[in-house]
Amino acid sequence: MIAIGSDHGGYDLKQSVMEWLDEQKIQYKDFGTFDRNSVDYADIAEPVANAVASGEYEKGILICGTGIGISISANKVKGIRAACCSDCYSAEMTRRHNDANILCFGGRVVGPGLAQKMVELFLKTEFEGGRHARRIAKIADIESRQK
Ligand code: RB5
Repeated sequence: MIAIGSDHGGYDLKQSVMEWLDEQKIQYKDFGTFDRNSVDYADIAEPVANAVASGEYEKGILICGTGIGISISANKVKGIRAACCSDCYSAEMTRRHNDANILCFGGRVVGPGLAQKMVELFLKTEFEGGRHARRIAKIADIESRQK
C-alpha cells in the first residue's frame, strides 16, 4: 500500500500519478491536498511520512511545486529517507543504494510521463543491501544523536 500526497503545486501531477496507479491496480491512500487551493507542503508531508515510518504504508510519494520543500519536510520524520528526483536513473538508484522509502518530485519540474516512469522504477526496484546497508545505518546513527 502506497501513501501519496501533494500540495497545490503538485496537485495536478498527483491526479495523473493516481490514474496510473489505478491502471496498474496498485493500492494507495491519498493524503491530500484535495483541490488546487494553496496549502503548506509540511502539512501534507508529515502525515505521509508518519504513515510510512510507522510501517503502515510500504512506501510514499510526495509532490510539491519543486519536490524540494515536501522532501525536506518528510526527511524530518525519523526513519524516513525521502529522495527528490527528476530523472529515472536517480529514482532507481535511490532504491538500490539509499533504500529510499518516499519518492518526491516537482509538479512544476517534471511531466506526467517522466513522473510515471520514476514511480514505476521506484516501486519495483529492490534495495541492494551489502555496503549500502552500512551507509543506511549511519544515517540512522545521525538521527539517534539528535536531541
Ligand atoms: C508552493 O508555491 C511551492 O513553494 C511549493 O510547492 C514547493 O515548490 C516548495 O518547495
